[in-house]
Amino acid sequence: MASSRTLLLLLLVTVSAAARPSASETTTGGDDGGKEQVVYVVYLGHLPSSTDASSDPEEALSAAVVPTHHDLLNQVLDDASSSASDRILHSYKRSLNGFAARLTQQEAQKLSSMDGVVSVFPSKTHRPLTTRSWDFLGLPQTPKEELPLEGEVIIGMLDTGLWPDSPSFSDEGFGPPPSRWKGVCHQNFTCNNKVIGARSYDQGSSPLDDEGHGSHTASTVAGRAVVNVSFYGLAAGTARGAVPGARLAVYKVCVGGGCSDADILAGFDDAIADGVDVISFSIGSKLPWPYFEDAQAIGSFHAMRRGVLTSASAGNSGLSGGRVCNVAPWMLSVAASSIDRRFVDSIVLGNGQTIVGASINTFPTITNATLAFPADGSCDPDYLGGSLYKGKVVLCPPQNGHPNDGSGPLLAGAAGVVLVSRAPDIAFTLALPGLTVTQDQFDQIMAYVNSTSNPVGTIGRTETTTDPQAPVPASFSSPGPNLITPQILKPDLSAPGIDIIASWSMLSSPSGVPNDTRRVQYNIISGTSMACPHVSGAAAYVKSFHRDWSPAMIMSALITTATPMNTPGNSSTTALKYGAGQLNPSKAHDPGLVYDASESDYVAMLCAQGYNATQLALVTGSNTTACPANNGSASAAGASPGDLNYPTMAARVEAGKNFTVTFPRTVTNVGAATGAYAVRVVLPFYAENDLAVEVSPSRLEFSWQQQKLSFNVTVSGVAPAEGQVHAAAVVWFNDQHEVKVEFEYKQWDERCAGVNLLSFSLHHSVQDPTRVTIIDIDSQHWQHLVGSWATKVGL
Ligand SMILES: *[C@@H]1O[C@H](CO)[C@@H](O)[C@H](O)[C@H]1NC(C)=O
Ligand SMILES: *[C@@H]1O[C@H](CO)[C@@H](O)[C@H](O)[C@H]1NC(C)=O
Ligand SMILES: *[C@@H]1O[C@H](CO)[C@@H](O)[C@H](O)[C@H]1NC(C)=O
Ligand SMILES: *[C@@H]1O[C@H](CO)[C@@H](O)[C@H](O)[C@H]1NC(C)=O
Ligand SMILES: *[C@@H]1O[C@H](CO)[C@@H](O)[C@H](O)[C@H]1NC(C)=O
Ligand SMILES: *[C@@H]1O[C@H](CO)[C@@H](O)[C@H](O)[C@H]1NC(C)=O
Ligand SMILES: *[C@@H]1O[C@H](CO)[C@@H](O)[C@H](O)[C@H]1NC(C)=O
Ligand SMILES: *[C@@H]1O[C@H](CO)[C@@H](O)[C@H](O)[C@H]1NC(C)=O
Ligand SMILES: *[C@@H]1O[C@H](CO)[C@@H](O)[C@H](O)[C@H]1NC(C)=O
Ligand SMILES: *[C@@H]1O[C@H](CO)[C@@H](O)[C@H](O)[C@H]1NC(C)=O
Repeated sequence: MASSRTLLLLLLVTVSAAARPSASETTTGGDDGGKEQVVYVVYLGHLPSSTDASSDPEEALSAAVVPTHHDLLNQVLDDASSSASDRILHSYKRSLNGFAARLTQQEAQKLSSMDGVVSVFPSKTHRPLTTRSWDFLGLPQTPKEELPLEGEVIIGMLDTGLWPDSPSFSDEGFGPPPSRWKGVCHQNFTCNNKVIGARSYDQGSSPLDDEGHGSHTASTVAGRAVVNVSFYGLAAGTARGAVPGARLAVYKVCVGGGCSDADILAGFDDAIADGVDVISFSIGSKLPWPYFEDAQAIGSFHAMRRGVLTSASAGNSGLSGGRVCNVAPWMLSVAASSIDRRFVDSIVLGNGQTIVGASINTFPTITNATLAFPADGSCDPDYLGGSLYKGKVVLCPPQNGHPNDGSGPLLAGAAGVVLVSRAPDIAFTLALPGLTVTQDQFDQIMAYVNSTSNPVGTIGRTETTTDPQAPVPASFSSPGPNLITPQILKPDLSAPGIDIIASWSMLSSPSGVPNDTRRVQYNIISGTSMACPHVSGAAAYVKSFHRDWSPAMIMSALITTATPMNTPGNSSTTALKYGAGQLNPSKAHDPGLVYDASESDYVAMLCAQGYNATQLALVTGSNTTACPANNGSASAAGASPGDLNYPTMAARVEAGKNFTVTFPRTVTNVGAATGAYAVRVVLPFYAENDLAVEVSPSRLEFSWQQQKLSFNVTVSGVAPAEGQVHAAAVVWFNDQHEVKVEFEYKQWDERCAGVNLLSFSLHHSVQDPTRVTIIDIDSQHWQHLVGSWATKVGL
């Protein structure tokens, strides 16, 4: 099966992420009379415009802004002996205004009520979201003559750093960076004409990648084509990024497995000012946050203002609804799906039964080894001491619902391991021979073990198989609904995120287990972290053809050309799982029509959602953006966040009740100058009796390029039963394209231009906070979320 086809590049954030130490920002305040100081982000909105035209405007601005941060902070410090400069970690002064500082709760509270302050929130810790691809997506390798075109595009990677010695990052044949570039290279990192900038935010640390995640994502976006890559013979082929000719700039905002809001915002502040075109952000949390308490929403808003698109991971909390993160409408939220290659491994029990699971296991076969269930039922290193498990295959049940990572059996000298995984679609790279199985399969193995006095098993090397059902959504990929703005469908689209091979760091083992002494140039991992850089790369690819397109135009091009997904089994929730479908990069540069939006459109959306107009004026720096008819807490009369000119549509309705909702939309012609488009509505068979969709006008005639035409989509009907979702599509097509729309909803053919996925995420899961069980989060976090969310949404 090991064909020589090109390998896809990916990243991995595992749902089974073993509890890594969280990078706690808390300092105990012995010197502060016992008051605990925690790192807060103080967000002040836009930067004042520079008044000094003579010298370097950026330096002048910085000289003017930094003292204002100190003045502001000095006004609230509880402790007279402490000064602002002792407390401030970062001043944001290049692309946005604000700072991160150690504060007591009381100080934070005082600050939040001061004039000019948009928001003050504790710096949360987010995580890199890890767990073959470009050929599967149909993106051809970039021809040599197009490489210089790509060389104008710079992608900023906010991640764990980068391992520059990988052949994927060689600059052979590259010219100097574009002249607009303002980036730098921090300590112990040598930049070249491929990797043109590298900054680190942990005081004095190096941007070198000591985890592997950042090297993996960066090579997926823009790694050069490297032939004959494999992981000990697995996944052999050519590894490459979407835009091998593009430049990379590294912003190391994650350290020790955590990425703080304070550092993330510093990364955005620099990346935007340095001159990147696209920001790739494979970092997320288990839940979304209100926009102005969320470093990525704030950072990506300021990126959007400067024409920079942010592409982010949807999250790896796929086992319960409403977990999708990075949901701001000015950024892309990318779900993960499978590719047609799968890695399987099996254990043959002494009774002849074969159990087929998954793993990346390239160790020699272990034959008829004794199977052992740990005496305490736990595979944690502390419980497997002594030599009891030496040479045996240890059977590890989940511990408190968490799968084990195999480090306990490795330290105990075990020959192999069998682990229970909640994500049977992922093959994990283990530190010793072994595989993951489902709970059912584990029970079958246990039944055999209990039935004999000498239980044995044989575990061979991983084999590669082809999965004709691909792409299907990844089990771990976080689904909607979007808890912050239910009228904006998130995730936006899906891309490969299962078992992706890409560059790794020589400072980290492929399994992530410290006692695994192997070092590899390329590793296979999974996660929405791996899906995101596919879309970031595709965005850079579109940007290389259309330097002048706004972030919203590029988002639209990627979303409306996505291919519907294969969804075996029950698919009533699929639009919430994967958005518009699977990324189709080769079509995205010629979408025909796009849904554009600018800063003022997003501000109008925030107004409609009830965001405070005073805050919004600070964010934009213009008082002309004040909300119309916004009396404060209630939303503007008649306006809905769903009116935003977004390339998908979503509505929240009440179960079983009749409803009518209208979506105004405007398309911009980016195809041939003249031409007419007709519309077709595709309804799933099960919704035909429940929904009516009217598009008015139903024909759009364009006479010039960039011409904008508007239409309304009115959806009416009876809302489905609780918890169900109806999805449909509105397709604009023209006669230059063969149009074949299958009414079987799984098989929409969207080869036509200007396709628009219309998703009615008809749910009501979060109206009633007592239904938190479906969200499955700790109640304090939920109260915080629903509290602030309900205020803003007006519930
Ligand atoms: C840089 O490299 C030197 C020499 O290898 C090492 O001593 C130093 O700790 C490194 N600094 C950082 C920030 O990694
Ligand atoms: C790739 O590896 C194979 C086997 O090791 C070798 O025969 C082949 O020449 C290599 N191809 C290239 C282009 O290096
Ligand atoms: C492993 O054990 C099975 C069952 O006892 C036996 O049939 C098989 O030959 C053994 N395999 C090896 C390689 O010893
Ligand atoms: C694991 O690594 C630690 C630190 O490198 C080392 O001291 C220990 O001996 C290793 N344990 C095993 C079982 O290899
Ligand atoms: C096997 O034995 C273990 C330990 O005695 C017990 O907890 C488990 O329920 C048994 N499992 C099966 C499938 O018989
Ligand atoms: C999927 O859901 C629909 C509607 O609830 C139901 O009729 C159908 O039987 C389900 N299909 C499968 C394969 O479970
Ligand atoms: C709003 O803008 C107008 C005109 O630019 C200006 O005169 C006024 O002072 C501004 N108001 C505030 C509160 O900034
Ligand atoms: C909006 O925010 C400002 C500043 O934080 C505050 O003074 C004002 O009361 C808020 N308005 C409403 C309607 O909440
Ligand atoms: C809902 O609409 C259906 C027709 O679509 C109609 O028969 C029914 O009476 C309506 N129900 C209510 C409560 O308006
Ligand atoms: C869409 O509907 C609104 C409100 O009914 C109307 O004012 C507007 O003219 C309609 N737009 C188009 C293009 O029909």
